[in-house]
Amino acid sequence: MVKLTFIEPSGAEVAIEAQEGWSAMQVATSKGVEGIDAECGGSCACATCHCYVEGDVAARLPAPLDGELAMLDNVAAERRPNSRLSCQIKVTPEIEGLILRVAEVQS
Ligand code: FES
Repeated sequence: MVKLTFIEPSGAEVAIEAQEGWSAMQVATSKGVEGIDAECGGSCACATCHCYVEGDVAARLPAPLDGELAMLDNVAAERRPNSRLSCQIKVTPEIEGLILRVAEVQS
């Protein structure tokens, strides 16, 4: 299990022991984290699972692929250098302790 912390738009922090191999979006939606719509179900086609990755661990994330970068052009909230689509973040031991701040609006 890998510890992830989500910060909901309200500011509430939700710490989760996440299953390896899942996406961060799947983890969040399965635990009822507020603010992630994930309308496409994780196929990198909706940009409604937008999060800002924070903390030292963020530097260990694999870089986004072209499809994610293109879809990040469509996020409803401000796109920042640390913007990611949570459906494209795979839970691995390397991201233990990652903080994901859920974007305030998704669509
Ligand atoms: S769930 Fe649709 S792009 Fe992530």
